[in-house]
Amino acid sequence: MSPFEGKRILILGATSGIAQEVGRVFASLHCSIALAGRNRERLETVAADLRARGAQATLVLEADLADPASHAQLIESAARPYAGLDAAVLAYGVLGDQKKAEADPAAALEILNTNFTSAASLITLLVNRFESEGKGHLAVIGSVAGDRGRKSNYVYGASKGALDIFLQGVRHRLAGTGVCVTTVKPGFVDTPMTAHLPKTPMFASASTVAAGIVEAMEKGKGVVYLPFKWSLIMTIIRNIPEAIFHKLNI
Ligand SMILES: NC(=O)c1ccc[n+]([C@@H]2O[C@H](COP(=O)([O-])OP(=O)(O)OC[C@H]3O[C@@H](n4cnc5c(N)ncnc54)[C@H](OP(=O)(O)O)[C@@H]3O)[C@@H](O)[C@H]2O)c1
Repeated sequence: MSPFEGKRILILGATSGIAQEVGRVFASLHCSIALAGRNRERLETVAADLRARGAQATLVLEADLADPASHAQLIESAARPYAGLDAAVLAYGVLGDQKKAEADPAAALEILNTNFTSAASLITLLVNRFESEGKGHLAVIGSVAGDRGRKSNYVYGASKGALDIFLQGVRHRLAGTGVCVTTVKPGFVDTPMTAHLPKTPMFASASTVAAGIVEAMEKGKGVVYLPFKWSLIMTIIRNIPEAIFHKLNI
C-alpha cells in the first residue's frame, strides 16, 4: 500500500502537463488534493477530472505563483480545509525564450524569478511548516538542464541549477527531521512546454514521469532523474571537458 493513500496533497502549478498526471496518481490513491495555479477555469477542469478518478476531495486555489506576496496565505488556504498537509509537489515553471533573455535582462529575470526565486519562497514556507510538524514530503520539479549550462538554454538551466543547489541545502538542513525533500530531474517530456519541439525517441510521456515522481516520493528519494537513463546521460554531459564542450552544438 502506498504511504500516500488518502493523504492531503498540495500541487503548485496543477494545470501543468506533468502535474495533471501526478494529480491522477494521487487521485487513484484517494487523496484530498489542493490545486494551485493561475487559471481558475483550467484548475476547475483538472479538479473535476481528479474527482472522477477517485480523489476524496479537491480544492482550487487561484494565484500567480511567481508572486511571493501571496505564498503564505496560499499555503494556509490549502491546509485549513484539510486540517493540514502531508505532501506538496511544486510543478510550475516556464521555459522562456533564450534569445530574448540574452537580449533583455528583464526577460532573463522573469525566468529566474518564476523557476527559482518564487520557488525558493514556497519551498521555505512549506519545509518550515513540515519541520514544525516533524513530517511531510515535498517534491520539486527541476530539470536535467540544471546540470550543465548550455548556450541553447542557459537562463532556464541556471534557474533549475539554482533550484537544485537550494534543495540540496534544504535536504542537508532537514536530514533526520522526518521531512523528506525530493528533487525531480526530468529529461524531455511531451507537454505544452515542449509542444514547439520536434518529438524524438528521447521524449517521455507526462504519465511515465508522473509515475516516477510519486514512486520516488514513496521511496523517500532525495534526487531522481526521470526516466532513469538521464542520470547516465547527464553524468557524461557534466564530465565533458569545457574545451571539447565548446565544440559541441547542443
Ligand atoms: N516538459 C519538459 O520537457 C520538462 C523537462 C524538465 C523539466 N520540466 C519542468 O516540469 C515542470 C512542469 O512543466 P510541464 O512540462 O508540465 O509544462 P507545462 O504543461 O507548460 O506546465 C507549466 C505550468 O506552469 C504554470 N505556470 C507558469 N508560470 C506560472 C505562474 N507565474 N503562476 C502559476 N502557474 C504558472 C503554467 O500555468 P499556465 O497554464 O497558466 O501558463 C503551467 O501550468 C516545470 O517546472 C518544467 O520546467 C519540464
